[in-house]
Amino acid sequence: MSQQELKKMVAHAAALRIDVSEVFGLGSGSTVNCLIESLAEQRSDIKGVVPASEETARLLKKHGIPVVDLNDVGTLSQYIDGADEVDHDLCCIKGRGAAMTNERVVCAASKKFICMIDESKYVDVLGSDAPVPIEVLVSAKSYISRQIVALGGSPVLRVGALTDSNHMIIDAYHLSLQDPVATEKALNNIPGVVGHGLFATQRPNVV
Ligand code: 5RP
Repeated sequence: MSQQELKKMVAHAAALRIDVSEVFGLGSGSTVNCLIESLAEQRSDIKGVVPASEETARLLKKHGIPVVDLNDVGTLSQYIDGADEVDHDLCCIKGRGAAMTNERVVCAASKKFICMIDESKYVDVLGSDAPVPIEVLVSAKSYISRQIVALGGSPVLRVGALTDSNHMIIDAYHLSLQDPVATEKALNNIPGVVGHGLFATQRPNVV
């Protein structure tokens, strides 16, 4: 079975367990896109969705699913999203789709994080394949690259990519992720980092 078929299967399963009578948060990426298709096919009376990216908002609107601004709601009960890698402690790397900063905000505003992955993304040690994407202020990209090197990582600028907030992305390869919480704190402490895709303190409740 192809990975795309697996994404459709996991999205189909997730679509059946979401409580659509309440507004929920939704991340972005191809698995989320499959979920939106499944929701449009299988569920009715969807109260509303807070999207974490412009692309997700566009697809929701295309299917007539009500889009809600995070600023217009209180705490959400559910946040649903994909991930690039998940380890046995359910720490994640996200952000191949460059939306991880807003995804973290919507996730933080939600009581429960439901993460949809296929088994190829379930890894022994985070960073086995996926780099940690880091959203940076354009003015700080060289400084932050040096800080990533100081942490033992190899920074690669994602050429031509800009986030929804017009920031650049640096993909940090080979970062030490044996202690993801410590690495997350180190990244949080670098000035000019707008956000990053290491979700060690905001782990999913359900994968
Ligand atoms: C986007 C993300 C995605 O959830 C992650 O990259 C997985 O994407 P896909 O479902 O396309 O494999 O974090 O910022």
